[in-house]
Amino acid sequence: MSKTLLRRTSHGRNSIRPAGTRAPFPKDMPMTSKSVTRPGRQPGDRAPRAAISAKTLRTDRWWIAPLLTFAGLSAWVIYATVRVFMHKWYWVEQYHYLTPFYSPCVTDRCVEGASHFGQWLPSWWIIPEAAFTLPFLLLFRLTCYYYRKAYYRSFWLSPPACAVPDNHSGYTGETRFPLVGQNLHRYFFYAAVAISLINTWDAILAFNTADGFGFGLGNLILLGNVVMLWAYTVSCHSCRHIIGGRLKHFSAHPVRYRAWTFVSKLNVRHMQLAWITLATLAITDFYVMALAAGWFPDLRFIN
Ligand code: FES
Repeated sequence: MSKTLLRRTSHGRNSIRPAGTRAPFPKDMPMTSKSVTRPGRQPGDRAPRAAISAKTLRTDRWWIAPLLTFAGLSAWVIYATVRVFMHKWYWVEQYHYLTPFYSPCVTDRCVEGASHFGQWLPSWWIIPEAAFTLPFLLLFRLTCYYYRKAYYRSFWLSPPACAVPDNHSGYTGETRFPLVGQNLHRYFFYAAVAISLINTWDAILAFNTADGFGFGLGNLILLGNVVMLWAYTVSCHSCRHIIGGRLKHFSAHPVRYRAWTFVSKLNVRHMQLAWITLATLAITDFYVMALAAGWFPDLRFIN
């Protein structure tokens, strides 16, 4: 029985053609001598881009994803910047809740109970309370493989979407300064692991309230945030390589293979985890701010 293929024509209708036959070149696609491989090209020569006069041949709403990404990331960065430089409403004395945006609190402006790692930075307004960790967290996210794609597309429009050209004349990838620094991502991953441990410690300490053991909605929010932070951190592409890379035979490393399998399952959700953790970080910070400011009380289950 002869096989057939279903294809959609440029006019939106379906047509059937036998398998193995060459698809006709669309009549409405302009083609010039530039788009044809030149016989004299040497290996390593750059292929010229097809000379298509239309900006893009895509007819779907490809601009929605970069637009939403731009709006989401901008909103989060504005919120986080405002919060980091407020220098207040970061600690709930009664329940020992500390927002992750101020952890660890290391300036001499910090409330004493919130300074689990000492106070060794001056309290200038330009210095965030978590000045020791925020730069590493920022660089970890900035060099993340997913976020790179997100902001290259939505902020630099380079390119804004697949099959949509950007306006840059040349392409050097990530081989020159400053983008060559993206290759440091694996080192920021190690810093992120240390910071996730600190956030976990904060969440554990929050069960020890001013009146002994206690448990409320704030604890659930802090715990949920920490779990999501770990999921995002462990799903990192660098983590996957650190755990399962550079091995010749998985059969000789069964523990690493199992760990790599687990990380790989999380890794396919890395984009979702990147956004979920932005949400859990903002929710956790807002909840702690609201309690510290006295806007509403914590919902307590025990003590
Ligand atoms: Fe996204 Fe490493 S690739 S955190």
